[in-house]
Amino acid sequence: MEYMDIETVKELDDIFKDVEELQKFRCLMMQYECAMLEVKTKLDVLNTELSVQNSRNPIESIKCRIKEPDSIMNKMKRLEVPFTVKNIEKNLNDIAGLRVICSFPDDIYTLVDYLVKQDDIRLIQKKDYIKNPKPNGYRSLHLILEVPIFLTKEKKMMRVEVQFRTIAMDFWASLEHKLKYKKDIENAEVISQDLYFCAELISQLDGRMQQIRRRLEEKKEI
Ligand code: GTP
Ligand code: MG
Repeated sequence: MEYMDIETVKELDDIFKDVEELQKFRCLMMQYECAMLEVKTKLDVLNTELSVQNSRNPIESIKCRIKEPDSIMNKMKRLEVPFTVKNIEKNLNDIAGLRVICSFPDDIYTLVDYLVKQDDIRLIQKKDYIKNPKPNGYRSLHLILEVPIFLTKEKKMMRVEVQFRTIAMDFWASLEHKLKYKKDIENAEVISQDLYFCAELISQLDGRMQQIRRRLEEKKEI
């Protein structure tokens, strides 16, 4: 878990000239952190139960992050919305983010099913880039959820973004991310095509690994 370091806090003083607004911002970030913890726990619980049922973990790892203040500022600029704490909460869905890495594609659908069925979770949006990959080859399943957090004086619904992908899709996305945020790359077009080809290979690989796992599981039951 990463808490804001001192340097970030210094920057925040520059961003928010109004002390009250700064306090509200810190409070909102704390609430997103609580929401992130709630969803993380739900996924840990599902992982624990399913690992006993199936003798293997559906989740390989979970990465959590709270969006940095400068990324929040940039996104608000892109949206052309005035930078206030109220507007941040109203307009951004991905301040609290979790990335759930699974070994196999079918684990992703199992986890998503069980997660969104929980009666305290509200599904706001689902984007299935595994069934419908992006033109560049990107595959992952994205959810925007609303979860309640129970604070000392109130219960509040908070939005959290959860991205599900396989280990292989994550490997691909980290490399592709470098291409996206690097400027002045030579042969960018050729690299993009190569990456697209790799995304297709990865999808085939994920499918075949899943088939092998299923065959091994069939054997075990005999
Ligand atoms: P953002 O403004 O970037 O949040 O996009 P969006 O609101 O249209 O949402 P979308 O669900 O498409 O993407 C959300 C997040 O998924 C991004 O912030 C990235 O972390 C990840 N993502 C989406 N598309 C790509 C992609 O093509 N490559 C990589 N590496 N990551 C992606
Ligand atoms: Mg985003």
